[in-house]
Amino acid sequence: MNIHTASKVSLLLSLSVTTFCVAETTQLSNGEVSQLTPVQQLGKHIFFDKNLSSPVGQSCASCHDPKAAFSEPDLNTPVSNGAVEGRTGTRNTPLISYTAFSPVFHFDNEESLYFGGQFLDGRAANLTEQAKKPFLNVDEMNNRDEAEVVDKLRLAAYANLFKQVYGLDVLNNTSQAFQAIAEALAAFESTPVFNRFSSKYDYFLAGQVELTEQESKGLELFNDANKGNCAACHPSSSDSKQPPLFTDFSYDNLGTPKNPEILAKKGQDFVDLGLGAIVNNVNENGKFKVPTLRNIAKTAPYMHNGVFQTLREAVDFYNTRDTDAKWGVPEIAENVNKDELGDLNLNADEIDAIVAFLRTLTDGYHPETSAHFAADSGLLTLPLVSIENNAAKTALTSAVLKEIAGSSPRRYRLVDLQKSKLAAPSDTGASPSFSTDNGMLEIPLIRVRNEAEFTAQLKRIISNNEDIFELVYLKPLQ
Ligand code: HEC
Ligand code: HEC
Repeated sequence: MNIHTASKVSLLLSLSVTTFCVAETTQLSNGEVSQLTPVQQLGKHIFFDKNLSSPVGQSCASCHDPKAAFSEPDLNTPVSNGAVEGRTGTRNTPLISYTAFSPVFHFDNEESLYFGGQFLDGRAANLTEQAKKPFLNVDEMNNRDEAEVVDKLRLAAYANLFKQVYGLDVLNNTSQAFQAIAEALAAFESTPVFNRFSSKYDYFLAGQVELTEQESKGLELFNDANKGNCAACHPSSSDSKQPPLFTDFSYDNLGTPKNPEILAKKGQDFVDLGLGAIVNNVNENGKFKVPTLRNIAKTAPYMHNGVFQTLREAVDFYNTRDTDAKWGVPEIAENVNKDELGDLNLNADEIDAIVAFLRTLTDGYHPETSAHFAADSGLLTLPLVSIENNAAKTALTSAVLKEIAGSSPRRYRLVDLQKSKLAAPSDTGASPSFSTDNGMLEIPLIRVRNEAEFTAQLKRIISNNEDIFELVYLKPLQ
Protein backbone atom coordinates (compact mmCIF):
# COMPACT_ATOMS: atom_id res chain seq x y z
CA MET A 1 0.00 0.00 0.00
CA ASN A 2 1.13 3.56 -0.63
CA ILE A 3 0.21 7.09 0.34
CA HIS A 4 -2.44 7.07 -2.34
CA THR A 5 -4.31 4.17 -0.74
CA ALA A 6 -3.90 5.73 2.69
CA SER A 7 -5.57 8.90 1.53
CA LYS A 8 -8.31 6.78 -0.01
CA VAL A 9 -8.98 5.42 3.47
CA SER A 10 -9.35 8.85 4.99
CA LEU A 11 -11.48 9.86 2.03
CA LEU A 12 -13.73 6.88 2.71
CA LEU A 13 -14.04 7.90 6.34
CA SER A 14 -14.95 11.48 5.49
CA LEU A 15 -17.46 10.25 2.90
CA SER A 16 -19.34 8.20 5.46
CA VAL A 17 -19.51 11.25 7.73
CA THR A 18 -21.09 13.27 4.92
CA THR A 19 -23.76 10.63 4.22
CA PHE A 20 -24.74 10.75 7.88
CA CYS A 21 -25.32 14.52 7.74
CA VAL A 22 -27.44 14.29 4.60
CA ALA A 23 -29.70 11.77 6.33
CA GLU A 24 -29.98 14.14 9.30
CA THR A 25 -33.66 15.02 8.81
CA THR A 26 -34.73 11.59 10.02
CA GLN A 27 -31.34 10.48 11.40
CA LEU A 28 -31.90 7.11 9.75
CA SER A 29 -29.25 5.63 7.51
CA ASN A 30 -29.98 5.27 3.79
CA GLY A 31 -29.38 1.55 4.15
CA GLU A 32 -32.11 1.24 6.79
CA VAL A 33 -34.58 3.28 4.80
CA SER A 34 -34.02 1.43 1.51
CA GLN A 35 -35.10 -1.85 3.16
CA LEU A 36 -38.56 -0.55 4.08
CA THR A 37 -41.71 -1.78 2.30
CA PRO A 38 -44.16 0.87 0.98
CA VAL A 39 -46.38 0.69 4.09
CA GLN A 40 -43.34 0.99 6.37
CA GLN A 41 -42.06 3.95 4.28
CA LEU A 42 -45.45 5.56 4.74
CA GLY A 43 -45.23 4.97 8.49
CA LYS A 44 -41.82 6.63 8.45
CA HIS A 45 -43.18 9.75 6.71
CA ILE A 46 -46.01 10.03 9.24
CA PHE A 47 -43.71 9.42 12.21
CA PHE A 48 -41.46 12.35 11.28
CA ASP A 49 -44.18 14.72 9.98
CA LYS A 50 -44.34 17.86 12.15
CA ASN A 51 -47.45 19.12 10.33
CA LEU A 52 -49.69 16.59 12.04
CA SER A 53 -49.97 18.49 15.34
CA SER A 54 -51.98 21.54 16.35
CA PRO A 55 -50.32 24.01 16.22
CA VAL A 56 -47.91 22.43 13.73
CA GLY A 57 -44.38 21.71 14.90
CA GLN A 58 -44.58 18.40 16.75
CA SER A 59 -44.18 14.88 15.34
CA CYS A 60 -43.95 11.49 17.02
CA ALA A 61 -40.18 11.85 16.63
CA SER A 62 -40.17 15.09 18.66
CA CYS A 63 -40.70 12.96 21.78
CA HIS A 64 -39.40 9.66 20.38
CA ASP A 65 -36.13 10.82 18.83
CA PRO A 66 -33.99 8.20 17.01
CA LYS A 67 -30.92 9.86 18.57
CA ALA A 68 -32.17 8.74 22.00
CA ALA A 69 -33.36 5.24 21.03
CA PHE A 70 -36.74 6.79 20.19
CA SER A 71 -37.31 8.48 23.53
CA GLU A 72 -37.34 12.12 24.71
CA PRO A 73 -34.04 13.68 23.62
CA ASP A 74 -33.97 16.17 26.53
CA LEU A 75 -32.48 14.07 29.32
CA ASN A 76 -33.22 16.71 31.94
CA THR A 77 -36.98 16.60 31.91
CA PRO A 78 -39.23 13.94 33.39
CA VAL A 79 -42.09 14.91 31.02
CA SER A 80 -42.09 16.04 27.38
CA ASN A 81 -43.53 19.34 26.15
CA GLY A 82 -46.71 19.10 24.14
CA ALA A 83 -47.45 20.91 20.86
CA VAL A 84 -49.18 23.63 22.89
CA GLU A 85 -46.70 25.80 24.76
CA GLY A 86 -46.66 25.00 28.49
CA ARG A 87 -48.64 21.74 28.32
CA THR A 88 -47.07 18.49 29.47
CA GLY A 89 -48.26 15.02 30.37
CA THR A 90 -47.57 13.24 33.65
CA ARG A 91 -45.25 10.43 32.53
CA ASN A 92 -41.66 10.06 31.44
CA THR A 93 -41.57 9.40 27.69
CA PRO A 94 -40.43 5.79 27.25
CA LEU A 95 -38.13 4.63 24.50
CA ILE A 96 -40.18 2.84 21.88
CA SER A 97 -37.51 0.64 20.38
CA TYR A 98 -38.50 -3.02 20.99
CA THR A 99 -42.02 -2.10 22.15
CA ALA A 100 -43.35 -3.86 19.01
CA PHE A 101 -42.58 -7.15 20.77
CA SER A 102 -45.08 -6.51 23.57
CA PRO A 103 -47.89 -9.06 23.35
CA VAL A 104 -51.51 -7.86 23.13
CA PHE A 105 -52.67 -6.69 26.57
CA HIS A 106 -54.16 -9.66 28.48
CA PHE A 107 -54.70 -11.27 31.88
CA ASP A 108 -52.92 -14.60 32.28
CA ASN A 109 -55.10 -16.90 34.38
CA GLU A 110 -52.31 -19.33 35.21
CA GLU A 111 -49.97 -16.67 36.55
CA SER A 112 -52.77 -14.37 37.73
CA LEU A 113 -50.96 -11.43 36.19
CA TYR A 114 -51.53 -8.83 33.51
CA PHE A 115 -49.13 -8.80 30.57
CA GLY A 116 -48.30 -6.73 27.52
CA GLY A 117 -50.13 -3.92 25.79
CA GLN A 118 -48.83 -0.44 25.01
CA PHE A 119 -48.36 2.56 27.33
CA LEU A 120 -46.87 2.15 30.77
CA ASP A 121 -50.30 1.15 32.11
CA GLY A 122 -51.22 -1.07 29.12
CA ARG A 123 -54.28 0.98 28.20
CA ALA A 124 -53.77 0.40 24.45
CA ALA A 125 -54.09 -3.25 23.44
CA ASN A 126 -51.46 -3.04 20.68
CA LEU A 127 -49.33 -0.67 18.60
CA THR A 128 -52.11 0.28 16.18
CA GLU A 129 -54.47 1.30 18.98
CA GLN A 130 -51.61 3.14 20.69
CA ALA A 131 -50.69 5.12 17.57
CA LYS A 132 -54.12 6.79 17.43
CA LYS A 133 -53.82 8.39 20.85
CA PRO A 134 -50.99 10.98 20.63
CA PHE A 135 -52.68 12.82 17.73
CA LEU A 136 -55.73 13.62 19.88
CA ASN A 137 -54.06 14.02 23.28
CA VAL A 138 -54.20 17.69 24.39
CA ASP A 139 -50.83 17.32 26.12
CA GLU A 140 -49.25 15.89 22.98
CA MET A 141 -50.19 16.59 19.35
CA ASN A 142 -53.51 18.20 20.30
CA ASN A 143 -55.67 17.74 17.20
CA ARG A 144 -59.39 18.40 17.72
CA ASP A 145 -60.51 15.15 16.11
CA GLU A 146 -59.61 12.47 13.60
CA ALA A 147 -60.83 14.64 10.72
CA GLU A 148 -58.26 17.32 11.53
CA VAL A 149 -55.45 14.76 11.25
CA VAL A 150 -56.79 13.31 7.99
CA ASP A 151 -57.25 16.83 6.52
CA LYS A 152 -53.57 17.51 7.19
CA LEU A 153 -52.53 14.22 5.67
CA ARG A 154 -54.41 15.03 2.46
CA LEU A 155 -52.00 17.94 1.94
CA ALA A 156 -48.86 15.97 2.75
CA ALA A 157 -46.18 15.35 0.14
CA TYR A 158 -46.64 11.62 0.72
CA ALA A 159 -50.46 11.64 0.22
CA ASN A 160 -50.00 9.77 -3.07
CA LEU A 161 -47.99 7.02 -1.40
CA PHE A 162 -50.81 6.80 1.15
CA LYS A 163 -53.34 6.23 -1.66
CA GLN A 164 -51.06 3.72 -3.38
CA VAL A 165 -50.83 1.69 -0.20
CA TYR A 166 -54.41 1.98 1.08
CA GLY A 167 -56.46 2.67 -2.06
CA LEU A 168 -57.45 5.78 -4.01
CA ASP A 169 -60.53 6.43 -1.88
CA VAL A 170 -58.96 6.01 1.50
CA LEU A 171 -58.67 9.71 2.25
CA ASN A 172 -62.38 10.23 1.62
CA ASN A 173 -63.32 8.16 4.64
CA THR A 174 -62.08 9.71 7.88
CA SER A 175 -62.24 6.70 10.15
CA GLN A 176 -60.70 4.36 7.55
CA ALA A 177 -57.94 6.85 6.87
CA PHE A 178 -57.23 7.35 10.58
CA GLN A 179 -57.07 3.58 11.08
CA ALA A 180 -54.65 3.35 8.12
CA ILE A 181 -52.41 6.06 9.62
CA ALA A 182 -52.15 4.05 12.84
CA GLU A 183 -51.47 0.80 10.98
CA ALA A 184 -48.68 2.39 8.94
CA LEU A 185 -47.07 3.74 12.13
CA ALA A 186 -47.28 0.30 13.75
CA ALA A 187 -45.70 -1.27 10.66
CA PHE A 188 -42.81 1.20 10.79
CA GLU A 189 -42.30 0.66 14.53
CA SER A 190 -42.00 -3.08 13.90
CA THR A 191 -39.00 -2.74 11.55
CA PRO A 192 -35.29 -3.16 12.36
CA VAL A 193 -35.05 0.65 12.37
CA PHE A 194 -36.54 0.42 15.89
CA ASN A 195 -35.40 -3.09 16.76
CA ARG A 196 -31.77 -3.33 15.80
CA PHE A 197 -30.32 -5.96 18.15
CA SER A 198 -26.88 -4.46 17.53
CA SER A 199 -25.58 -3.84 21.06
CA LYS A 200 -22.27 -5.05 22.42
CA TYR A 201 -24.28 -7.62 24.39
CA ASP A 202 -25.74 -8.96 21.11
CA TYR A 203 -22.22 -9.34 19.69
CA PHE A 204 -21.27 -11.04 22.94
CA LEU A 205 -24.20 -13.49 22.69
CA ALA A 206 -23.10 -14.27 19.13
CA GLY A 207 -19.61 -15.06 20.41
CA GLN A 208 -18.07 -12.17 18.51
CA VAL A 209 -16.71 -10.02 21.34
CA GLU A 210 -15.79 -10.50 24.97
CA LEU A 211 -17.26 -8.41 27.77
CA THR A 212 -14.77 -6.62 29.99
CA GLU A 213 -14.18 -8.08 33.44
CA GLN A 214 -16.44 -5.45 35.01
CA GLU A 215 -19.21 -5.98 32.46
CA SER A 216 -19.23 -9.76 32.95
CA LYS A 217 -19.31 -9.35 36.69
CA GLY A 218 -22.27 -6.99 36.17
CA LEU A 219 -24.04 -9.59 34.03
CA GLU A 220 -23.52 -12.22 36.71
CA LEU A 221 -24.93 -9.95 39.42
CA PHE A 222 -27.81 -8.98 37.12
CA ASN A 223 -28.75 -12.65 36.73
CA ASP A 224 -28.02 -13.91 40.25
CA ALA A 225 -31.29 -14.40 42.18
CA ASN A 226 -29.41 -13.80 45.44
CA LYS A 227 -27.75 -10.60 44.21
CA GLY A 228 -29.26 -8.14 41.70
CA ASN A 229 -32.06 -10.51 40.67
CA CYS A 230 -32.78 -8.16 37.78
CA ALA A 231 -33.32 -10.95 35.25
CA ALA A 232 -36.38 -12.11 37.22
CA CYS A 233 -38.29 -9.31 35.46
CA HIS A 234 -35.76 -8.14 32.83
CA PRO A 235 -34.65 -11.49 31.28
CA SER A 236 -31.13 -11.42 29.81
CA SER A 237 -31.49 -14.66 27.89
CA SER A 238 -34.19 -16.12 25.70
CA ASP A 239 -35.13 -19.62 24.67
CA SER A 240 -36.46 -18.57 21.29
CA LYS A 241 -34.37 -17.57 18.28
CA GLN A 242 -35.05 -13.95 19.03
CA PRO A 243 -32.47 -12.33 21.31
CA PRO A 244 -33.60 -11.40 24.86
CA LEU A 245 -35.74 -8.26 25.25
CA PHE A 246 -34.94 -7.49 28.92
CA THR A 247 -38.61 -7.38 29.83
CA ASP A 248 -41.19 -10.08 30.56
CA PHE A 249 -43.94 -7.47 29.85
CA SER A 250 -45.51 -8.01 33.29
CA TYR A 251 -46.53 -5.23 35.71
CA ASP A 252 -45.11 -4.33 39.09
CA ASN A 253 -45.13 -1.65 41.78
CA LEU A 254 -41.50 -1.00 42.76
CA GLY A 255 -42.44 1.52 45.43
CA THR A 256 -40.96 4.32 43.32
CA PRO A 257 -41.14 7.64 45.19
CA LYS A 258 -43.08 10.63 43.84
CA ASN A 259 -41.26 13.10 41.63
CA PRO A 260 -41.53 16.66 43.06
CA GLU A 261 -41.02 18.10 39.55
CA ILE A 262 -44.25 16.46 38.39
CA LEU A 263 -46.11 17.51 41.56
CA ALA A 264 -45.03 21.10 40.88
CA LYS A 265 -46.78 20.93 37.50
CA LYS A 266 -49.77 18.76 38.37
CA GLY A 267 -50.48 19.59 42.03
CA GLN A 268 -49.18 18.17 45.32
CA ASP A 269 -51.98 15.60 45.52
CA PHE A 270 -51.24 14.07 42.15
CA VAL A 271 -50.72 10.29 42.20
CA ASP A 272 -50.38 7.97 39.25
CA LEU A 273 -52.37 4.76 39.84
CA GLY A 274 -50.87 3.05 36.77
CA LEU A 275 -52.43 -0.28 35.80
CA GLY A 276 -54.98 -0.09 38.66
CA ALA A 277 -56.85 2.81 37.01
CA ILE A 278 -57.09 0.93 33.71
CA VAL A 279 -58.39 -2.40 35.03
CA ASN A 280 -60.28 -0.68 37.83
CA ASN A 281 -58.81 -2.85 40.55
CA VAL A 282 -57.08 -1.44 43.65
CA ASN A 283 -54.88 -4.53 43.82
CA GLU A 284 -53.14 -3.33 40.65
CA ASN A 285 -52.61 0.28 41.83
CA GLY A 286 -49.06 1.59 41.42
CA LYS A 287 -48.09 -1.10 38.92
CA PHE A 288 -46.34 -0.21 35.67
CA LYS A 289 -45.19 -2.33 32.77
CA VAL A 290 -41.66 -3.70 33.06
CA PRO A 291 -39.68 -1.70 30.47
CA THR A 292 -36.98 -3.12 28.22
CA LEU A 293 -33.48 -2.21 29.37
CA ARG A 294 -32.11 -2.20 25.84
CA ASN A 295 -30.68 1.28 25.09
CA ILE A 296 -31.35 2.27 28.68
CA ALA A 297 -28.10 4.29 28.93
CA LYS A 298 -29.59 6.74 26.41
CA THR A 299 -32.92 7.45 28.09
CA ALA A 300 -32.43 9.21 31.42
CA PRO A 301 -34.28 10.08 33.59
CA TYR A 302 -35.71 6.76 34.83
CA MET A 303 -39.03 5.19 35.94
CA HIS A 304 -42.57 6.15 34.91
CA ASN A 305 -42.19 9.53 36.58
CA GLY A 306 -38.54 10.12 35.76
CA VAL A 307 -37.65 10.47 39.45
CA PHE A 308 -34.13 9.03 39.09
CA GLN A 309 -31.54 10.99 37.15
CA THR A 310 -28.93 8.30 36.51
CA LEU A 311 -28.69 4.56 36.06
CA ARG A 312 -26.56 4.37 39.17
CA GLU A 313 -29.29 6.02 41.21
CA ALA A 314 -31.89 3.58 39.83
CA VAL A 315 -29.76 0.55 40.74
CA ASP A 316 -28.98 2.06 44.14
CA PHE A 317 -32.74 2.35 44.72
CA TYR A 318 -33.25 -1.38 44.06
CA ASN A 319 -30.36 -1.99 46.44
CA THR A 320 -31.36 0.11 49.45
CA ARG A 321 -35.04 1.03 49.06
CA ASP A 322 -35.88 -0.74 52.34
CA THR A 323 -32.74 0.14 54.28
CA ASP A 324 -32.08 3.82 53.49
CA ALA A 325 -34.58 6.50 54.52
CA LYS A 326 -33.35 8.87 51.78
CA TRP A 327 -35.75 7.34 49.23
CA GLY A 328 -38.87 8.59 51.04
CA VAL A 329 -42.26 6.93 50.80
CA PRO A 330 -43.59 5.17 47.69
CA GLU A 331 -45.97 7.04 45.40
CA ILE A 332 -48.44 4.18 46.00
CA ALA A 333 -47.82 2.29 49.24
CA GLU A 334 -50.08 -0.66 48.39
CA ASN A 335 -48.96 -3.62 46.28
CA VAL A 336 -45.24 -2.78 46.59
CA ASN A 337 -43.03 -5.73 45.59
CA LYS A 338 -41.10 -6.55 48.78
CA ASP A 339 -39.94 -10.03 47.70
CA GLU A 340 -37.64 -9.35 44.80
CA LEU A 341 -36.00 -6.01 45.52
CA GLY A 342 -35.36 -3.34 48.10
CA ASP A 343 -32.48 -4.81 50.11
CA LEU A 344 -29.94 -6.41 47.78
CA ASN A 345 -26.80 -5.89 49.82
CA LEU A 346 -24.72 -4.83 46.82
CA ASN A 347 -21.50 -2.91 47.49
CA ALA A 348 -20.42 0.14 45.46
CA ASP A 349 -18.27 -1.93 43.06
CA GLU A 350 -21.15 -4.29 42.44
CA ILE A 351 -23.50 -1.41 41.62
CA ASP A 352 -20.89 0.00 39.22
CA ALA A 353 -20.55 -3.41 37.58
CA ILE A 354 -24.31 -3.66 36.99
CA VAL A 355 -24.30 -0.17 35.50
CA ALA A 356 -21.34 -1.09 33.27
CA PHE A 357 -23.30 -4.12 32.09
CA LEU A 358 -26.41 -2.01 31.37
CA ARG A 359 -24.23 0.17 29.15
CA THR A 360 -23.49 -2.82 26.91
CA LEU A 361 -27.17 -2.83 25.88
CA THR A 362 -26.92 0.25 23.65
CA ASP A 363 -27.50 -0.43 19.94
CA GLY A 364 -25.03 0.55 17.27
CA TYR A 365 -21.96 -1.11 18.74
CA HIS A 366 -19.06 -1.45 16.31
CA PRO A 367 -16.43 -3.98 17.24
CA GLU A 368 -12.89 -2.67 16.76
CA THR A 369 -11.67 -3.94 13.39
CA SER A 370 -8.53 -1.84 12.99
CA ALA A 371 -5.09 -3.04 13.98
CA HIS A 372 -3.41 -2.01 17.23
CA PHE A 373 0.14 -2.23 18.50
CA ALA A 374 1.26 -2.50 22.12
CA ALA A 375 4.83 -1.24 22.40
CA ASP A 376 5.48 -2.87 25.77
CA SER A 377 4.63 -6.41 24.64
CA GLY A 378 5.61 -5.88 21.00
CA LEU A 379 2.29 -7.41 19.92
CA LEU A 380 0.62 -6.21 16.74
CA THR A 381 -3.01 -7.38 16.88
CA LEU A 382 -5.14 -7.59 13.74
CA PRO A 383 -8.74 -8.47 14.79
CA LEU A 384 -9.90 -8.75 11.19
CA VAL A 385 -7.75 -9.47 8.14
CA SER A 386 -9.25 -10.28 4.78
CA ILE A 387 -7.13 -12.84 2.97
CA GLU A 388 -7.36 -12.36 -0.75
CA ASN A 389 -6.07 -14.15 -3.79
CA ASN A 390 -6.95 -14.15 -7.45
CA ALA A 391 -8.75 -17.45 -7.46
CA ALA A 392 -10.72 -17.78 -4.23
CA LYS A 393 -13.16 -15.59 -2.39
CA THR A 394 -12.09 -13.49 0.57
CA ALA A 395 -11.65 -15.28 3.90
CA LEU A 396 -11.61 -13.45 7.22
CA THR A 397 -9.12 -14.22 9.96
CA SER A 398 -7.70 -12.57 13.01
CA ALA A 399 -3.95 -12.55 13.54
CA VAL A 400 -1.36 -11.57 16.12
CA LEU A 401 2.23 -10.73 15.17
CA LYS A 402 5.07 -10.26 17.64
CA GLU A 403 7.93 -7.92 16.97
CA ILE A 404 11.33 -9.68 16.90
CA ALA A 405 13.40 -7.63 19.30
CA GLY A 406 16.34 -5.84 17.76
CA SER A 407 15.52 -6.85 14.18
CA SER A 408 16.48 -4.44 11.40
CA PRO A 409 14.65 -4.07 9.09
CA ARG A 410 11.96 -4.65 11.61
CA ARG A 411 10.47 -8.13 11.54
CA TYR A 412 7.42 -9.71 13.13
CA ARG A 413 6.71 -13.38 13.83
CA LEU A 414 3.16 -14.69 13.30
CA VAL A 415 2.15 -16.00 16.73
CA ASP A 416 -1.58 -16.55 16.29
CA LEU A 417 -3.93 -17.00 13.36
CA GLN A 418 -7.62 -17.88 13.75
CA LYS A 419 -10.84 -17.75 11.84
CA SER A 420 -12.29 -14.34 12.70
CA LYS A 421 -15.31 -14.06 14.97
CA LEU A 422 -16.13 -10.66 13.53
CA ALA A 423 -18.44 -10.00 10.63
CA ALA A 424 -17.05 -8.22 7.58
CA PRO A 425 -17.16 -4.49 8.24
CA SER A 426 -19.73 -2.71 6.08
CA ASP A 427 -18.55 0.83 6.49
CA THR A 428 -14.87 0.94 7.26
CA GLY A 429 -11.84 0.95 5.08
CA ALA A 430 -9.65 0.52 8.13
CA SER A 431 -9.28 -3.25 8.32
CA PRO A 432 -6.14 -4.95 7.00
CA SER A 433 -5.88 -7.21 3.96
CA PHE A 434 -3.35 -9.84 2.94
CA SER A 435 -2.75 -10.97 -0.62
CA THR A 436 -1.53 -14.54 -0.94
CA ASP A 437 -0.49 -13.72 -4.50
CA ASN A 438 2.22 -11.23 -3.64
CA GLY A 439 2.60 -11.85 0.11
CA MET A 440 1.82 -8.25 1.01
CA LEU A 441 -0.02 -7.38 4.22
CA GLU A 442 -1.62 -3.94 3.94
CA ILE A 443 -2.57 -2.26 7.21
CA PRO A 444 -4.41 1.00 6.53
CA LEU A 445 -4.67 1.92 10.21
CA ILE A 446 -2.66 0.85 13.25
CA ARG A 447 -3.55 2.45 16.57
CA VAL A 448 -0.93 2.75 19.23
CA ARG A 449 -2.41 3.25 22.69
CA ASN A 450 -5.50 4.83 21.08
CA GLU A 451 -3.41 7.92 20.43
CA ALA A 452 -1.03 7.70 17.49
CA GLU A 453 -2.20 6.31 14.15
CA PHE A 454 -0.04 4.77 11.45
CA THR A 455 -0.38 3.06 8.14
CA ALA A 456 1.93 0.20 7.23
CA GLN A 457 2.86 -2.42 4.71
CA LEU A 458 4.54 -5.71 5.61
CA LYS A 459 5.90 -8.44 3.35
CA ARG A 460 5.68 -12.09 4.26
CA ILE A 461 8.97 -13.98 4.17
CA ILE A 462 9.52 -17.55 5.22
CA SER A 463 12.42 -18.08 7.52
CA ASN A 464 13.24 -21.43 9.19
CA ASN A 465 9.72 -22.64 8.34
CA GLU A 466 8.25 -19.79 10.33
CA ASP A 467 5.90 -17.09 9.08
CA ILE A 468 7.86 -13.88 9.39
CA PHE A 469 6.68 -10.49 8.17
CA GLU A 470 9.16 -7.76 7.34
CA LEU A 471 8.19 -4.12 7.58
CA VAL A 472 8.22 -2.38 4.21
CA TYR A 473 7.12 0.97 5.60
CA LEU A 474 5.38 2.55 8.56
CA LYS A 475 4.02 6.09 8.24
CA PRO A 476 2.08 8.33 10.61
CA LEU A 477 -1.50 9.06 9.48
CA GLN A 478 -2.81 12.60 9.63
C1 HEC B 1 -45.41 15.01 23.68
C2 HEC B 1 -44.60 13.84 23.62
C3 HEC B 1 -45.07 12.64 22.82
C4 HEC B 1 -45.48 12.60 21.50
C5 HEC B 1 -45.61 13.75 20.53
C6 HEC B 1 -45.70 11.19 21.20
N1 HEC B 1 -45.46 10.43 22.30
FE1 HEC B 1 -45.49 8.41 22.38
N2 HEC B 1 -45.32 8.49 24.39
C7 HEC B 1 -45.14 9.63 25.14
C8 HEC B 1 -45.32 9.33 26.54
C9 HEC B 1 -45.20 10.31 27.70
C10 HEC B 1 -45.64 7.95 26.62
C11 HEC B 1 -46.01 7.16 27.87
C12 HEC B 1 -47.43 7.56 28.18
C13 HEC B 1 -48.20 6.64 29.07
O1 HEC B 1 -47.77 5.53 29.41
O2 HEC B 1 -49.30 7.05 29.47
C14 HEC B 1 -45.62 7.46 25.23
C15 HEC B 1 -45.84 6.12 24.89
C16 HEC B 1 -45.73 5.63 23.60
C17 HEC B 1 -45.73 4.24 23.23
C18 HEC B 1 -45.86 3.06 24.20
C19 HEC B 1 -44.51 2.61 24.69
C20 HEC B 1 -44.57 1.53 25.72
O3 HEC B 1 -43.53 1.19 26.25
O4 HEC B 1 -45.67 1.04 26.05
C21 HEC B 1 -45.63 4.18 21.87
C22 HEC B 1 -45.55 2.94 21.01
C23 HEC B 1 -45.59 5.55 21.38
N3 HEC B 1 -45.63 6.40 22.45
C24 HEC B 1 -45.58 5.92 20.05
C25 HEC B 1 -45.86 7.21 19.62
C26 HEC B 1 -46.27 7.57 18.27
C27 HEC B 1 -46.43 6.59 17.13
C28 HEC B 1 -46.45 8.92 18.25
C29 HEC B 1 -46.93 9.80 17.11
C30 HEC B 1 -48.23 9.47 16.59
C31 HEC B 1 -46.14 9.40 19.59
N4 HEC B 1 -45.83 8.34 20.39
C32 HEC B 1 -46.14 10.75 19.96
C33 HEC B 1 -44.83 10.88 24.64
C34 HEC B 1 -45.10 11.26 23.32
C1 HEC C 1 -40.03 -7.38 40.22
C2 HEC C 1 -39.68 -7.02 38.89
C3 HEC C 1 -38.39 -6.22 38.68
C4 HEC C 1 -37.12 -6.51 39.12
C5 HEC C 1 -36.67 -7.68 39.97
C6 HEC C 1 -36.26 -5.48 38.58
N1 HEC C 1 -37.00 -4.59 37.87
FE1 HEC C 1 -36.29 -2.96 36.90
N2 HEC C 1 -38.20 -2.37 36.50
C7 HEC C 1 -39.35 -3.07 36.82
C8 HEC C 1 -40.52 -2.25 36.59
C9 HEC C 1 -41.97 -2.65 36.79
C10 HEC C 1 -40.04 -1.01 36.14
C11 HEC C 1 -40.87 0.25 35.82
C12 HEC C 1 -41.26 0.87 37.15
C13 HEC C 1 -41.81 2.29 37.05
O1 HEC C 1 -41.77 2.90 35.99
O2 HEC C 1 -42.27 2.79 38.08
C14 HEC C 1 -38.58 -1.12 36.10
C15 HEC C 1 -37.74 -0.10 35.68
C16 HEC C 1 -36.34 -0.20 35.61
C17 HEC C 1 -35.48 0.82 35.12
C18 HEC C 1 -35.92 2.16 34.55
C19 HEC C 1 -36.34 1.97 33.13
C20 HEC C 1 -36.87 3.20 32.45
O3 HEC C 1 -37.11 3.11 31.23
O4 HEC C 1 -37.08 4.24 33.08
C21 HEC C 1 -34.19 0.36 35.23
C22 HEC C 1 -32.93 1.08 34.83
C23 HEC C 1 -34.27 -0.96 35.81
N3 HEC C 1 -35.60 -1.27 36.01
C24 HEC C 1 -33.18 -1.76 36.09
C25 HEC C 1 -33.27 -2.88 36.90
C26 HEC C 1 -32.12 -3.51 37.50
C27 HEC C 1 -30.68 -3.11 37.25
C28 HEC C 1 -32.58 -4.51 38.30
C29 HEC C 1 -31.80 -5.37 39.24
C30 HEC C 1 -31.01 -4.68 40.22
C31 HEC C 1 -34.04 -4.52 38.16
N4 HEC C 1 -34.41 -3.51 37.31
C32 HEC C 1 -34.90 -5.42 38.79
C33 HEC C 1 -39.39 -4.36 37.31
C34 HEC C 1 -38.31 -5.00 37.90
